Amino acid sequence: MESSEKKLLEVTKLRKYFPVKGVRGPGVQAVQDVSFFIKKGETLGLVGESGCGKTTLGRTVLRLYEPTGGRIVYDGKVLYDNPLGPDGKALGKAVSENMLPYRRKMQIIFQDPSASLDPRMTVGEIIGEAIDIHKLAASKGDRLDMIKELLAKVGLNTEHANRYPHEFSGGQQQRVGIARALAVKPEFIVCDEPISALDVSIQSQVVNMLEDMQQEMGLTYLFIAHDLSVVRHISNRIGVMYLGSMVELGESYELNRHPIHPYTQTLLSAVPVPDPELSKARKRIVLEGDIPSPMNPPKGCRFHTRCPYAAERCSQEAPEFKEHEPGHWAACHLLDS
Ligand SMILES: Nc1ncnc2c1ncn2[C@@H]1O[C@H](COP(=O)(O)OP(=O)(O)O)[C@@H](O)[C@H]1O
Ligand code: SF4
Ligand SMILES: [Mg+2]
Repeated sequence: MESSEKKLLEVTKLRKYFPVKGVRGPGVQAVQDVSFFIKKGETLGLVGESGCGKTTLGRTVLRLYEPTGGRIVYDGKVLYDNPLGPDGKALGKAVSENMLPYRRKMQIIFQDPSASLDPRMTVGEIIGEAIDIHKLAASKGDRLDMIKELLAKVGLNTEHANRYPHEFSGGQQQRVGIARALAVKPEFIVCDEPISALDVSIQSQVVNMLEDMQQEMGLTYLFIAHDLSVVRHISNRIGVMYLGSMVELGESYELNRHPIHPYTQTLLSAVPVPDPELSKARKRIVLEGDIPSPMNPPKGCRFHTRCPYAAERCSQEAPEFKEHEPGHWAACHLLDS
């Protein structure tokens, strides 16, 4: 997969907290100062256990959730900027760009296709609505042609336009969701676990389709999955999250072969590897304890309550997320020594 070096999206110390009614303090600290970029035309995979903040990060990047702090730059334009000091207070005045022109360029495909499609609308109306909102069709005929073309693109028939979502299988519903996202000719798509709710037998079809679309339309993806095995083949690079923090990010091959963060090492130890040498070398590591609550995350390194290598410093001081080898970032004190 070729990708030019141009950064399409750049996110710096992005933070999203959800206030909790009746509870003092910051609330749910769902995304904690996450930094990464995505190059134009590439796929960045994003993995981590359920509840670690992947969806929140994806939606905050699109400003479907308003960030609590940090910076988002898209295609050279600052969409949001609110740098926070060490005490969590804003350092200056927040910059918040009008998102309307970017709503078309930046799309999302949801995890649960049935919940994301309005049951009272036909498939044609669902796709047509996206075209109408952004005034992309010159005439009624033009609009119909666009709907037909989109349906064909995602492997559905013209007559499917008159049917309702419940008349479709999960895989077909997800195709409708993809057609809706593509209808507005986007540049960037957050694919939020688009195949997790689908039968295993059709998962690869949908993944292949997304890859074909990417090639054809030059799309850039943030591809979220809870499982490394889903994203390892389709991602140029992969980021790993734990309890709201990005703990490691690197080239897909490199991250799979040489994970440098203890959490990534445990994640990978659970993924079967076809290479017998690598399989022997890679002992299954089982983490002890539960994931702490993001309402009250551990101080210092958020992973220290479960990390097999945790030392005194880990519970006091949060490790910095930095580039340890070219293109390979991680946040762990072990790597500093
Ligand atoms: N709208 C919301 N209001 C309050 N808390 C939320 C909201 N959305 C997500 N959370 C919480 O934020 C954390 C991260 O959730 P989420 O981003 O959905 O994780 P993931 O997608 O990795 O499973 C979880 O603790 C979740 O309960
Ligand atoms: S900083 Fe400490 S607790 Fe955190 S991953 Fe590294 S060794 Fe483990
Ligand atoms: Mg999610």
